[in-house]
Amino acid sequence: MGFESVVMMRFTLDEIKPFFLEPKLEDRKIATILEKIKVMYTIDRKGLPSKKWTRTEVSAYSAFYLTTNVAKLTWLFDQLPRELKEELRHCDIIDFGTGPGTYLLAFLRYFEGEVTGDLMGVDKEELMLEQAQKLTRGLYPKASLEFFQHIPPPHNDQNKRLLIFGNSLNELSDHEVIGIIERASADYILFIEPGTPVVYDQMMKIRDHFKTTKGQVLFPCPSLDLACPVKVRLEKEDKYKDDWCHQVWRGTHDQSIERLGQLAKIDRKVMPMITHLYASNKERVLDDSYTKARFIRFLNESKHAFLWEVCLLENSEQKICQFEIPKKTMSKKEAKEFKKLSVGASFDYEQLKEINDHHYRVKVNILS
Ligand SMILES: C[S@@+](CC[C@H](N)C(=O)[O-])C[C@H]1O[C@@H](n2cnc3c(N)ncnc32)[C@H](O)[C@@H]1O
Repeated sequence: MGFESVVMMRFTLDEIKPFFLEPKLEDRKIATILEKIKVMYTIDRKGLPSKKWTRTEVSAYSAFYLTTNVAKLTWLFDQLPRELKEELRHCDIIDFGTGPGTYLLAFLRYFEGEVTGDLMGVDKEELMLEQAQKLTRGLYPKASLEFFQHIPPPHNDQNKRLLIFGNSLNELSDHEVIGIIERASADYILFIEPGTPVVYDQMMKIRDHFKTTKGQVLFPCPSLDLACPVKVRLEKEDKYKDDWCHQVWRGTHDQSIERLGQLAKIDRKVMPMITHLYASNKERVLDDSYTKARFIRFLNESKHAFLWEVCLLENSEQKICQFEIPKKTMSKKEAKEFKKLSVGASFDYEQLKEINDHHYRVKVNILS
């Protein structure tokens, strides 16, 4: 399968609209509802747990947040080694807090529907489940799909299980999340959550949970044995006390979705996110793609070089360094790609010069 070609495959409004709970909703009306949803998610979060969605709100959410959230899974899967992706492709999936079926659809889309497991969506909201069924069955009629209000018991098949939390971790207590992980008895657990300091704190507790239960981190950290250097630094140095590790997706969506964003005045071309992937045991041996440098913050671009902060595993030490990447080490095409880089990608690199202990001049392998 040509996974790379799938990168460009996005959902368009025309494609999904026939499967909305309210298919006749006009774009301007969608935009008005989106503005209200945005306020609820960013400013007025206390109403979220008791929120009762209407059919038009669910449709508007599907039009914009479903379609843009899909890009996050696509990006993450592009970062994973091919053989791990192949294993995930054959998993049974539980999408917890599936909403309108967002990450089931993202998963199906990524693999062009060529998946073999059972796909299960879980949500406490009946209207969300109704929408998820309509969209997933409408768009992927051949997929094996089931929907529940609670975690279903394990199936009697040999398939491994991937449990996905997509923007649902942040609506749950740590205690609830651990309970769901235990009940799902999944082999892989994926989080794709908002890129906020609150979620980072929550994620660090989940990371500790996997350390205690002898699990393994597959993204973004190279190992659970080493402390997160961002956390170490923020605890040690006052000037970093408000720092947190997150990724930033950068890109564009289908023009029908971009237009909705303009109407609703919501920018989803830059999406901060916190995405982590764990395995519940150490059966899987990591390959060396996990020892590349992970680009965690863009610092600066001068006429001659890019300056990035990277998270690096070196001599069994996990540390944060600065990479200065001279533009003359790149072709014009590479420099153009590099400007569009999403935060959180990892690269092979070649050290050209050690400027000081934590500052290197390097050449990166961008197009490999
Ligand atoms: C922000 S939406 C995310 C929807 C979708 N995953 C996405 O990323 O587009 C969070 C969803 O989690 C669901 N949810 C929150 N708490 C839940 C719980 N305890 N059990 C099941 N679903 C829950 C909500 O009903 C809502 O549909």
